[in-house]
Amino acid sequence: MKGYKVAIVGATGMVGQEFTKVLEQRNFPVESIELLASDRSAGKKLFFYHQEIEVKETVPELFKDIDIALFSAGAEVSRYFSPIAAQSGAVVIDNSSAFRMDPKVPLVVPEINPEDIKKHKGIIANPNCSTIQMVIALYPLHKVNPIERVVVTTFQSVSGTGTAAVEELTMQSKQVLNGQATIPHVYPHQIAFNVLPEIDVFLDNAYTKEEWKTVEETRKIMHADDMAISATCVRVPVFIGHSEAINIEFSKPMSPDDARRILIQAPGVKLLDDPVISLYPQPWSAAGTDEVFVGRIRRDASHDNGIVMWVAADNLRKGAALNAVQIAEEVVKMGCFHSGGRK
Ligand SMILES: NC(=O)c1ccc[n+]([C@@H]2O[C@H](COP(=O)([O-])OP(=O)(O)OC[C@H]3O[C@@H](n4cnc5c(N)ncnc54)[C@H](OP(=O)(O)O)[C@@H]3O)[C@@H](O)[C@H]2O)c1
Repeated sequence: MKGYKVAIVGATGMVGQEFTKVLEQRNFPVESIELLASDRSAGKKLFFYHQEIEVKETVPELFKDIDIALFSAGAEVSRYFSPIAAQSGAVVIDNSSAFRMDPKVPLVVPEINPEDIKKHKGIIANPNCSTIQMVIALYPLHKVNPIERVVVTTFQSVSGTGTAAVEELTMQSKQVLNGQATIPHVYPHQIAFNVLPEIDVFLDNAYTKEEWKTVEETRKIMHADDMAISATCVRVPVFIGHSEAINIEFSKPMSPDDARRILIQAPGVKLLDDPVISLYPQPWSAAGTDEVFVGRIRRDASHDNGIVMWVAADNLRKGAALNAVQIAEEVVKMGCFHSGGRK
């Protein structure tokens, strides 16, 4: 099997470290790997297949021979380095929000719109973590009974913000339990033992940017420009795993049993739905796994065509690294590379 020259930009971060795990676990054909980060991490050692690899500072020359560049170093880094990597001939799979809504850049969840990959011009965007798990649960239902409206509330873990937020929740939890004061740095308020209805900046329409990403990205991935969507995104003191309460209005009535029958066969979905034994998705048990877990499926008592459900998934895996590696697998399968500036 041919191997590919892979670069991970942001290799020392929460998502970056998950990238190396997922590449190993899925036996992705890697011929060589570059682990890249900022100058702060240059010289640091990380492991890939038990082999020690030195982290390098991200510089343009390093993309010269790369086939696949997995980016997870924030939007600013992506905006600068992704076009350079693409022009050098790499296919960039970008985890940041930099290009997601660019009409020339496919935004892909392989279980839903793999064909969009073929339209790429060097950059493919990986959707936001909370959007990925929601569309994985919505799309199989939408195909059978078109969805007219979605109202979602998310409960997002701190690993979604990155390493600094995980450290902040750890430290604040200890401080609170020891009766000490906390000083928030990453979030505007204390996150330990608290819940914050603010993720990313507030927009003029009073939604947050995270909420608006959920709206726009869902429509783009599902090719459903007219779907009405409203989101409230909430940060909760959970380390890994996002959860979502989703309220769906279909074009026609759908029974909870029909929804279960569809979802039990849906790619990427695992149904956990038995209230009698308190079986339902939880972020704690979703952490470290690949599936999007769906449960608490019930008829919406307030709407004839409505269903309510609860969804949980690992935001670092299906919400980020796993989805991106699945995109890379599709690129390989489709032979969808491009020459960029390289001969
Ligand atoms: N966490 C999630 O659940 C999630 C889900 C979907 C998408 N994402 C996206 O993935 C990206 C990274 O998230 P994360 O959670 O992994 O953050 P993180 O833990 O804070 O890691 C950030 C990474 O970016 C690197 N970096 C920072 N500035 C850089 C620069 N100037 N040049 C090169 N590398 C630089 C850091 O390297 P140093 O160690 O050298 O600072 C580190 O490797 C973000 O765009 C985020 O929106 C995250």
